[in-house]
Amino acid sequence: MQELNIQKTTETNEALYDLLLLADPSKEIVDEYLVRGECYTAWASDELAGIYVLLKTRPQTIEIVNIAVKESLQNRGFGKKLVKDAIEKARQSGADTIEIGTGNSSIHQLSLYQKCGFRLQAIDHDFFIRHYDEEIFENGIQCRDMVRLYLDLS
Ligand code: COA
Repeated sequence: MQELNIQKTTETNEALYDLLLLADPSKEIVDEYLVRGECYTAWASDELAGIYVLLKTRPQTIEIVNIAVKESLQNRGFGKKLVKDAIEKARQSGADTIEIGTGNSSIHQLSLYQKCGFRLQAIDHDFFIRHYDEEIFENGIQCRDMVRLYLDLS
């Protein structure tokens, strides 16, 4: 499998935003994550392949708030590599727990996160109705609820 070179970045440019907005259609929310969190980019050779943002949400708790792989490079294992790298970064920072949230309709993502060890924690009912202006549909399902997942690192 192709190697990924993952590095922290403080840059923002259009290519980065294109990826970030794949995971979250709200630029306002993405901008807030970039100010408060740490952004990591993944490079396959010289091509920007993926991105994730880590945010410290509570003492000892880190959340993956945005993760995406470039559409043309999806389904090659890069997403799993990014999630595993994020888990390792959270562990190295001394966090006890890493969390992630996704939509009830995000079947592929729910599968990926559980394959990486995340367990279901809670449902934030109507999160996407409250926070997003447009209705979101995926896999023929309306995205209404945020499914919260966690992984114990201690
Ligand atoms: N349908 C269902 N499951 C699928 C799938 C598909 N089309 N493609 C991959 N998977 C599963 C596979 O089971 C795979 O596990 P395996 O390695 O055991 O076979 C697992 O997901 C990981 O796949 P991977 O190739 O590593 O994922 P990816 O590189 O495609 O990246 C995302 C996954 C979610 C990051 C990517 O699809 C993406 O950027 N999506 C848009 C942004 C987004 O939704 N971000 C998350 C917001 S919560």
